[in-house]
Amino acid sequence: MASGYVDAGDRWYYILHPRPAYIIVARGPQGRVNFMAASWVMPLSEEPPRIVAAFDKEAYTTELALASGAFTVNVLPIEQRDFIYTAGTTSGREVDKAELLGARFEETSVAAPRLAHPRPLGYIAARVHRVVEDVAEDVYLVVADVVEAKADPELFNPRYGWELKKTRIAMHAAGRAFTANSGLYVARRLAPGGRG
Ligand SMILES: Cc1cc2nc3c(=O)[nH]c(=O)nc-3n(C[C@H](O)[C@H](O)[C@H](O)COP(=O)(O)O)c2cc1C
Repeated sequence: MASGYVDAGDRWYYILHPRPAYIIVARGPQGRVNFMAASWVMPLSEEPPRIVAAFDKEAYTTELALASGAFTVNVLPIEQRDFIYTAGTTSGREVDKAELLGARFEETSVAAPRLAHPRPLGYIAARVHRVVEDVAEDVYLVVADVVEAKADPELFNPRYGWELKKTRIAMHAAGRAFTANSGLYVARRLAPGGRG
Protein backbone atom coordinates (compact mmCIF):
# COMPACT_ATOMS: atom_id res chain seq x y z
CA MET A 1 0.00 0.00 0.00
CA ALA A 2 1.69 3.20 -1.20
CA SER A 3 0.23 5.56 1.39
CA GLY A 4 3.19 7.93 1.26
CA TYR A 5 4.04 7.16 4.93
CA VAL A 6 6.70 4.95 6.49
CA ASP A 7 5.41 2.47 9.08
CA ALA A 8 6.78 3.33 12.53
CA GLY A 9 6.84 -0.36 13.52
CA ASP A 10 7.87 -1.27 17.09
CA ARG A 11 8.76 2.31 17.88
CA TRP A 12 5.25 3.58 17.05
CA TYR A 13 5.32 5.70 20.22
CA TYR A 14 8.02 7.93 18.72
CA ILE A 15 5.21 9.27 16.54
CA LEU A 16 3.92 10.83 19.77
CA HIS A 17 7.34 12.26 20.71
CA PRO A 18 9.04 14.62 21.36
CA ARG A 19 7.65 14.81 24.85
CA PRO A 20 9.02 16.55 27.92
CA ALA A 21 11.52 14.33 29.69
CA TYR A 22 10.96 14.75 33.41
CA ILE A 23 12.70 13.35 36.46
CA ILE A 24 10.45 11.45 38.86
CA VAL A 25 11.80 11.29 42.41
CA ALA A 26 10.53 8.99 45.16
CA ARG A 27 11.58 7.93 48.64
CA GLY A 28 11.05 4.46 49.97
CA PRO A 29 9.91 3.52 53.47
CA GLN A 30 13.56 2.89 54.42
CA GLY A 31 14.45 6.46 53.50
CA ARG A 32 16.29 5.71 50.27
CA VAL A 33 15.72 8.35 47.58
CA ASN A 34 15.83 7.38 43.91
CA PHE A 35 14.83 8.93 40.61
CA MET A 36 14.25 8.05 36.98
CA ALA A 37 13.61 9.82 33.68
CA ALA A 38 9.94 9.84 32.65
CA SER A 39 8.32 11.14 29.47
CA TRP A 40 5.01 9.34 29.62
CA VAL A 41 3.45 11.71 32.14
CA MET A 42 0.50 14.06 31.55
CA PRO A 43 -2.16 16.22 33.23
CA LEU A 44 -5.37 14.20 33.66
CA SER A 45 -7.96 16.54 35.19
CA GLU A 46 -8.44 19.95 36.73
CA GLU A 47 -11.30 18.81 39.01
CA PRO A 48 -9.67 17.46 41.04
CA PRO A 49 -6.11 18.35 39.99
CA ARG A 50 -4.65 15.03 38.85
CA ILE A 51 -1.87 13.68 36.70
CA VAL A 52 -1.36 10.27 35.16
CA ALA A 53 1.87 8.49 34.35
CA ALA A 54 3.16 5.19 33.04
CA PHE A 55 5.47 3.63 35.65
CA ASP A 56 7.62 0.71 34.55
CA LYS A 57 6.77 -2.27 36.75
CA GLU A 58 10.47 -3.12 37.14
CA ALA A 59 11.81 0.36 37.94
CA TYR A 60 13.11 0.94 41.44
CA THR A 61 11.50 4.40 41.45
CA THR A 62 8.15 2.71 40.88
CA GLU A 63 8.69 0.43 43.87
CA LEU A 64 9.53 3.40 46.11
CA ALA A 65 6.71 5.63 44.81
CA LEU A 66 4.08 2.94 45.29
CA ALA A 67 5.37 1.94 48.72
CA SER A 68 5.36 5.54 49.99
CA GLY A 69 2.36 6.71 47.96
CA ALA A 70 4.11 9.80 46.65
CA PHE A 71 6.48 11.13 44.00
CA THR A 72 7.59 14.39 42.45
CA VAL A 73 7.80 15.30 38.77
CA ASN A 74 10.72 17.63 38.06
CA VAL A 75 11.08 19.71 34.89
CA LEU A 76 14.66 20.25 33.74
CA PRO A 77 16.20 22.43 31.03
CA ILE A 78 17.72 20.93 27.88
CA GLU A 79 21.22 21.56 29.29
CA GLN A 80 20.48 18.67 31.70
CA ARG A 81 19.93 16.09 28.96
CA ASP A 82 22.95 14.02 30.04
CA PHE A 83 21.57 13.87 33.59
CA ILE A 84 18.14 12.85 32.29
CA TYR A 85 19.53 10.27 29.88
CA THR A 86 21.76 8.71 32.54
CA ALA A 87 18.92 8.69 35.08
CA GLY A 88 16.81 6.93 32.47
CA THR A 89 19.36 4.27 31.55
CA THR A 90 20.68 3.18 34.96
CA SER A 91 18.77 1.65 37.84
CA GLY A 92 18.87 2.53 41.49
CA ARG A 93 18.76 -1.20 42.07
CA GLU A 94 22.38 -1.36 40.87
CA VAL A 95 23.85 2.06 41.67
CA ASP A 96 23.21 4.95 44.00
CA LYS A 97 22.12 7.39 41.30
CA ALA A 98 22.18 10.40 43.62
CA GLU A 99 25.86 9.72 44.28
CA LEU A 100 26.62 8.83 40.66
CA LEU A 101 25.09 12.05 39.35
CA GLY A 102 25.66 14.38 42.29
CA ALA A 103 21.92 14.92 42.76
CA ARG A 104 20.58 16.68 45.82
CA PHE A 105 17.01 16.91 47.08
CA GLU A 106 14.69 19.14 49.03
CA GLU A 107 11.58 18.17 50.99
CA THR A 108 8.08 18.87 49.68
CA SER A 109 4.67 18.56 51.29
CA VAL A 110 4.37 14.91 50.20
CA ALA A 111 6.44 11.89 51.24
CA ALA A 112 8.84 12.40 48.32
CA PRO A 113 11.44 15.10 47.87
CA ARG A 114 12.00 17.17 44.74
CA LEU A 115 15.28 17.70 42.96
CA ALA A 116 17.36 20.58 44.33
CA HIS A 117 20.44 19.92 42.21
CA PRO A 118 20.23 20.01 39.29
CA ARG A 119 17.73 22.79 39.98
CA PRO A 120 14.40 22.08 38.32
CA LEU A 121 12.60 24.81 36.37
CA GLY A 122 9.50 23.66 38.20
CA TYR A 123 8.04 20.61 39.87
CA ILE A 124 4.84 18.89 40.91
CA ALA A 125 4.55 16.96 44.15
CA ALA A 126 1.91 14.26 43.88
CA ARG A 127 0.18 11.72 46.09
CA VAL A 128 -0.81 8.42 44.52
CA HIS A 129 -4.58 8.14 44.10
CA ARG A 130 -4.95 4.92 42.16
CA VAL A 131 -2.70 2.34 40.55
CA VAL A 132 -4.09 0.41 37.61
CA GLU A 133 -2.08 -2.79 37.39
CA ASP A 134 -3.74 -4.67 34.58
CA VAL A 135 -3.89 -2.27 31.63
CA ALA A 136 -0.43 -3.22 30.40
CA GLU A 137 2.20 -5.92 30.83
CA ASP A 138 5.10 -3.55 31.33
CA VAL A 139 3.74 -0.51 33.17
CA TYR A 140 1.36 0.52 35.90
CA LEU A 141 -0.95 3.38 35.07
CA VAL A 142 -0.57 5.65 38.09
CA VAL A 143 -3.15 8.36 38.80
CA ALA A 144 -2.01 10.91 41.36
CA ASP A 145 -3.31 14.05 43.07
CA VAL A 146 -1.35 17.25 42.52
CA VAL A 147 -0.51 18.49 46.01
CA GLU A 148 2.09 21.14 45.19
CA ALA A 149 2.98 22.75 41.85
CA LYS A 150 5.79 25.30 41.83
CA ALA A 151 8.01 26.93 39.25
CA ASP A 152 10.84 29.44 38.91
CA PRO A 153 9.16 32.89 38.97
CA GLU A 154 11.64 34.21 36.37
CA LEU A 155 10.54 31.54 33.90
CA PHE A 156 6.93 30.80 34.72
CA ASN A 157 3.86 33.03 34.90
CA PRO A 158 0.90 31.51 36.78
CA ARG A 159 -1.49 33.06 34.21
CA TYR A 160 0.07 31.85 30.99
CA GLY A 161 2.67 29.30 31.93
CA TRP A 162 6.29 29.08 30.80
CA GLU A 163 8.09 32.14 29.47
CA LEU A 164 8.81 30.40 26.19
CA LYS A 165 11.41 32.89 24.99
CA LYS A 166 13.54 32.24 28.10
CA THR A 167 12.81 28.59 28.90
CA ARG A 168 14.12 25.56 27.05
CA ILE A 169 12.43 22.49 28.49
CA ALA A 170 14.18 19.16 27.87
CA MET A 171 12.17 16.91 25.60
CA HIS A 172 12.89 13.38 24.47
CA ALA A 173 12.68 12.56 20.77
CA ALA A 174 14.18 9.05 20.49
CA GLY A 175 17.13 7.11 21.91
CA ARG A 176 19.81 9.68 22.77
CA ALA A 177 18.09 12.45 20.79
CA PHE A 178 16.65 15.31 22.79
CA THR A 179 15.15 18.63 21.74
CA ALA A 180 13.56 21.67 23.36
CA ASN A 181 10.78 24.15 22.69
CA SER A 182 12.07 26.67 20.17
CA GLY A 183 10.08 29.84 20.70
CA LEU A 184 6.68 31.42 21.07
CA TYR A 185 4.08 31.10 18.33
CA VAL A 186 0.70 32.66 19.05
CA ALA A 187 -2.33 31.00 17.45
CA ARG A 188 -5.38 32.76 15.95
CA ARG A 189 -8.78 31.09 15.80
CA LEU A 190 -9.53 30.12 12.19
CA ALA A 191 -12.65 31.32 10.36
CA PRO A 192 -15.07 28.70 8.94
CA GLY A 193 -13.48 26.85 6.04
CA GLY A 194 -10.04 27.17 7.65
CA ARG A 195 -9.45 30.73 6.43
CA GLY A 196 -6.84 32.65 8.37
C1 LIG B 1 14.00 9.95 28.07
C2 LIG B 1 13.48 8.79 28.88
C3 LIG B 1 12.14 8.74 29.23
C4 LIG B 1 11.64 7.69 30.01
N1 LIG B 1 10.32 7.67 30.35
C5 LIG B 1 9.86 6.73 31.21
C6 LIG B 1 8.51 6.75 31.68
O1 LIG B 1 7.71 7.60 31.30
N2 LIG B 1 8.13 5.79 32.57
C7 LIG B 1 8.99 4.83 33.04
O2 LIG B 1 8.60 4.00 33.86
N3 LIG B 1 10.28 4.78 32.60
C8 LIG B 1 10.72 5.71 31.71
N4 LIG B 1 12.02 5.67 31.29
C9 LIG B 1 12.87 4.59 31.74
C10 LIG B 1 13.36 4.73 33.18
O3 LIG B 1 13.86 6.04 33.40
C11 LIG B 1 14.44 3.67 33.40
O4 LIG B 1 13.83 2.40 33.37
C12 LIG B 1 15.25 3.84 34.66
O5 LIG B 1 16.44 3.13 34.49
C13 LIG B 1 14.54 3.37 35.91
O6 LIG B 1 15.41 3.60 36.97
P1 LIG B 1 15.17 3.02 38.44
O7 LIG B 1 15.16 1.50 38.36
O8 LIG B 1 16.34 3.55 39.21
O9 LIG B 1 13.88 3.57 38.91
C14 LIG B 1 12.53 6.68 30.46
C15 LIG B 1 13.87 6.72 30.09
C16 LIG B 1 14.34 7.76 29.31
C17 LIG B 1 15.80 7.80 28.93
